[in-house]
Amino acid sequence: MGQVLVIFAHPAFQRSRANRALLRAASTTEGVTVHDLYETYPDFLIDVRDEQQLLEKHDAVVLQHPFFWYSSPALIKEWLDLVLEYRWAYGEGGDALRGKILAQAITAGGPVNAYRREGPNHFTVRELLAPYEQTARLCGMGYAEAYAVHGVNHLDEAALAEAARGYQSWLEALRDGSAPQWLAPPSS
Ligand SMILES: Cc1cc2nc3c(=O)[nH]c(=O)nc-3n(C[C@H](O)[C@H](O)[C@H](O)COP(=O)(O)O)c2cc1C
Repeated sequence: MGQVLVIFAHPAFQRSRANRALLRAASTTEGVTVHDLYETYPDFLIDVRDEQQLLEKHDAVVLQHPFFWYSSPALIKEWLDLVLEYRWAYGEGGDALRGKILAQAITAGGPVNAYRREGPNHFTVRELLAPYEQTARLCGMGYAEAYAVHGVNHLDEAALAEAARGYQSWLEALRDGSAPQWLAPPSS
């Protein structure tokens, strides 16, 4: 069994319904550690060494967040910019993350059929997440198929509970190495 680190980011968690349901499921899943970025760093002053040490202890890293402007809340970007350092995450000697898996769990206001060429959002979720997939590739990581919950603002409690159960199964598969991957980690 591997260890999964959920890096969670929501700038207004007190108003969250969807991520709240997902986070509850994550925090009760064996082998999963939840790390809340906005709670830990409300001033955006990220402790890079602490974050790197946390990453080193886990086999898979999930970025869990609401989809904001086809991307993530700002603190995830800041975290990536600071934590994935040259010569640690990539570049000469930068192999700290090599062989691990990166994945994303997103909640989106848009319905699933909005995310296609003929739909209002024109691109698929995977296409929109390309910078994260390529970040994983550069760091020698695999990139698992994302867990996406769509149309979240119209989901009732039963639908949210169902989405949370699905998230738990997805996390367990990630932990056990059986989650479908969009990008496999390099063999060496
Ligand atoms: C600043 C902002 C940007 C958003 N951008 C998108 C978007 O690009 N695509 C989308 O489907 N939903 C978008 N939404 C809707 C959020 O994804 C949705 O409200 C959120 O996932 C709900 O999760 P929560 O209940 O945990 O807050 C956006 C919402 C906000 C506030």
